[in-house]
Order: sequence, then C-alpha cells, then structure tokens
Amino acid sequence: MISNQLTNKRVLLGVTGGIAAYKSAEICRRLQDEGAEVRTAMTAAAQEFITPLTLQALSKNPVHLDLLDPETESAMGHIELARWADLILIAPASANFISRLAQGRGDDLLTAICLAADCKVAIAPAMNRSMWEKEVTQKNLAQTKSVGISVFAPGEGEQACGETGVGRLLDVPDIILLACELFETGVLSGKKVVVTAGPTREAIDPIRYISNHSSGKQGYAIAEAAAEAGANVVLISGPTNLPKPDRAQLIKVESAGQMLDAVLDQVPGTDVFISVAAVADFKTKLTAPNKIKKNVNGNLTIELSRTPDILSEVTKIKGNHLFTVGFAAETENLLENANSKLKEKKLDMIVANDVSDSEIGFNSDLNEATVLTPKTSINLPKANKTQLARNLIEIISEQLAGFGTDARARS
Ligand SMILES: Cc1cc2nc3c(=O)[nH]c(=O)nc-3n(C[C@H](O)[C@H](O)[C@H](O)COP(=O)(O)O)c2cc1C
Repeated sequence: MISNQLTNKRVLLGVTGGIAAYKSAEICRRLQDEGAEVRTAMTAAAQEFITPLTLQALSKNPVHLDLLDPETESAMGHIELARWADLILIAPASANFISRLAQGRGDDLLTAICLAADCKVAIAPAMNRSMWEKEVTQKNLAQTKSVGISVFAPGEGEQACGETGVGRLLDVPDIILLACELFETGVLSGKKVVVTAGPTREAIDPIRYISNHSSGKQGYAIAEAAAEAGANVVLISGPTNLPKPDRAQLIKVESAGQMLDAVLDQVPGTDVFISVAAVADFKTKLTAPNKIKKNVNGNLTIELSRTPDILSEVTKIKGNHLFTVGFAAETENLLENANSKLKEKKLDMIVANDVSDSEIGFNSDLNEATVLTPKTSINLPKANKTQLARNLIEIISEQLAGFGTDARARS
C-alpha cells in the first residue's frame, strides 16, 4: 500500500552480513512506498548474501560499499552520506555490526557513517537465538541504546538455522511502521503553526518585479517539520519552485501586501507564527499599468516605498498567546543585528542566519544558525535544512512549554 509517512525523508538503508540480508530488498521497496528517498550501503559480509546490483536497481542509486575508495569518497563519502540522511536504518544488523557500533568503531563505511551521523539511527537486529541471548550481545545493545540509537527488537519464531527462539528479523511491515514512528514526535500536537516562506515579488509593471534570491527551502522544511511534530500547519509562500509540503495547507501569494493579508487572516487561533519569508523591503510607489518601454530617454528612475513589516503587524495584535519567531538573514554583524530585531519587534525568538556564506545561504541545501530568545542563545550546527528545521521545531516546542506565563509576565 502506498502511503506518505516518509515523504521527503531520506533513508540510508545499511545492510550487514546475515541470512536475513535478502529481506533488505523488500525493506527498500516498502520505504519507497512510504515516500522515502532511499540510498543503500553494505558491509563486505552483506555482499556475500545479496548482490549490490539488487539494491542498486531497487534504490535507483549506486550502492555505497567502501570507506577508503577515493572515487566513491569524492562522489558521496561517509560524511556527506551521514549529513544527507534523515534516518540511517541498519536492517538486518548482525551481532558483529552491533558490537562494532557499541564500541564506536569507524573502520568500515557503515560504522563510519553511523559515527558521523547527527540524524536518527535505528538498527533491526537479526541473528541466531544463542547469539541474541549472549550477555555480550545484550550489553552491546544496551550501549547502543544509551547513545540514542533505536533498536527494533527482533521477533520470535523459527530461524533459518533450524532453531526456534528470539532473533528473527522483525517482519518488514513492522520495521517500516517503527521507522515512520521515529518521525512522529507529537511535540506540537494540537497547535496551529503558520509559516511564511520564499521571496515576495513587488511589481514594477505587468512584466517586471523587485524580488530576492530566497529559494523558500528553509521555510518549507520548517513547515514540514512542524507537521511532522503533529501541528496543524499553514504555509504562506511567495513564488518558489518547491513542491507543496505533504501535510501542510499551502497559500500562495506574490507580494508583501498579499502576504500580510494572508497572515492576518490566519493569526486568530494560531499558536506559533514563524516568519521565514524574505519579504521585499521596498516596492514601487506606483506600479505601471503597462510595460514600461525601454526607449524612454536616458535612465529610468523608479520611486520606491516601504512594504508592510509583516512581523511588526503581527506582534502589534498578537496578545499573549501567539509565539512569534523571526529570521534575521544578515551579511554582517549577525548576532548584534539579530538581537536588535528581537527586541525592536518584541519577538519571542529569532533565528540568526549568515547569508554571506554561500555554503549556507539562500539557495543552498545546508544551513547553520543561532537561535536567540530574550533569555537564551542556542547554536544550531551546520546541517541540511530539513534537519535544522527539526531541531528548531524541537526548541520552539520546549520554549512553548513555559510561554503563556512568561509572555504575560513580560507584557
Ligand atoms: C551462512 C551464514 C549466516 C549468518 N547469519 C548471521 C545472522 O543472521 N546474524 C548475524 O549476526 N551473523 C550472521 N552470520 C555471521 C556474520 O556473517 C559475520 O559475523 C560477519 O562478520 C558479519 O559482518 P558485518 O557485521 O560486517 O556485516 C552468518 C554467517 C554465515 C556464514
């Protein structure tokens, strides 16, 4: 059955050397059915049980096999793969692999990826009953759990070796279900979240406009992460080339004025407003009704006026119940400028973002930011925009816990 629980999720499926390795092909397909983009990596032992060709054909991507191969490392090495993934799922995970993971080893590709990963990591162990029951295996499992790795505990029943007991790879549908559940944090359940994203376009004439380089990627990722956290999400977006986030209501707008109207329309009943859009600061004072001809004599002067300041308009009417988050995309004096904006606009939080660095700028897939509140400063290290969005949503949900009372005390 096709569902969408892993839409926009990137899953690195790691396969280790066990008899259940053949089931990894099915796991790959079912992850894709849930909407995930799947890449695969195999240990050397895994390749004795199932060929990389099978996983390559199913995942439609090259299979990652070697840590110390200059060619594959330059294409997508262990660090890139670790950064790329939202979830690393090792299924099946051999007893030997679990012991290497527990020790924090990084002497083959799959362990090195796990070591480098900041994303979710889950293992689905599969092994002979006695191997599973061994004290050392249980100790290794406890160690992996203690560092935040999820263990999809094996099932009980007849095993390939002829014995009966605990150690069978969990049934594939159950593995997929648990993988989906990893993304359901529920921390914003019952909350309404409004996110603005993308640039705005301010018309000069019917053909031309003033705009900026915002791609909308970070705003869309935040809308997605909020939906993933259980919120009812409305995304108000300027023009972008991005697909509609699966679980958010999308309202498309063009200009700053239209964005303001849409936002004010949504404010009643909203718990969190996250202003990520790069709203144009200026618009033409008058929009020409027809295309301005280029054969006008000499230069053309256009008089500009300020567009509405959406965040300030929202904070004016928000009362004590709306948690407002701004973004400060700056090219210099990042924290200083962000702090002033936090105070001037009476925001509850601001995300300071250095857009002068092209690696984390407007069109990049990576981002890095500092989250400031009137009381705290939290660094969000460089990560893909999806991961950064999830971290931000986590922080917002923590701040929301004490929000009502704090806000009333400040006002
Ligand atoms: C036929 C056969 C089946 C095996 N099945 C399993 C298994 O189901 N689970 C397991 O943990 N090890 C199993 N092993 C042992 C692993 O293949 C061995 O520990 C290997 O070194 C694992 O390497 P890896 O963890 O790098 O993938 C099996 C070995 C053989 C020869």
